[in-house]
Amino acid sequence: MKRLSVYLCAIAAPLALAACEAGEETAATHPAADDTGSMVLDNGMSVRATIETRQENLKEMGAAMKTISDQLKLEAPDVDAIYASAQTIEGHSMNIGDWFPAGTGPDSGIETEALANIWESPDDFANAVARFQNEADGFEAVAVTRNVDDIRAGLPSLGGACKNCHDQFRLDTN
Ligand code: HEC
Repeated sequence: MKRLSVYLCAIAAPLALAACEAGEETAATHPAADDTGSMVLDNGMSVRATIETRQENLKEMGAAMKTISDQLKLEAPDVDAIYASAQTIEGHSMNIGDWFPAGTGPDSGIETEALANIWESPDDFANAVARFQNEADGFEAVAVTRNVDDIRAGLPSLGGACKNCHDQFRLDTN
């Protein structure tokens, strides 16, 4: 049967051929996408839920960073909002190391910007996590003082820890 359909595809017009190949692949080679996504990991969550949850958390970190930098542009920054954002980031920094269990990378069939390098170079990834935890902790300690000058001075090294990890482990979409 398979041989016959390959043969039929091969003699089809080029456009139809593409459709044939796509169809074959979904049916035969990659039942993957959805099946893999629903596979349950040791964390008790499916691959899909694990990836989507981490992306939600990362979006929260992005929003928290934006709140901080937006506030710092104002004449009278809302230091309470900055501190709350610093707490959000610090809280996530404690857990980010658990957001990337094996099986939740680019081969999962789920859309993700996580690079395979995370699992290929686990020591480097752990270093990036540790650097980030250190920076997030330090920034929270500055933010709690509500001293705007110190907060402003401390932000670049926090941002540098985000970038350090993204440069190595996140797909560059630019
Ligand atoms: C230890 C590595 C690491 C650190 C540290 C890190 N990120 Fe990321 N970030 C990633 C990876 C990997 C992805 C891609 C995740 C995916 O698509 O599954 C990502 C994705 C994101 C996204 C996109 C989320 C989405 O799906 O829309 C945002 C926003 C983001 N990070 C913000 C930040 C900010 C802000 C910081 C620092 C406060 C930070 N990240 C620190 C690794 C990291």
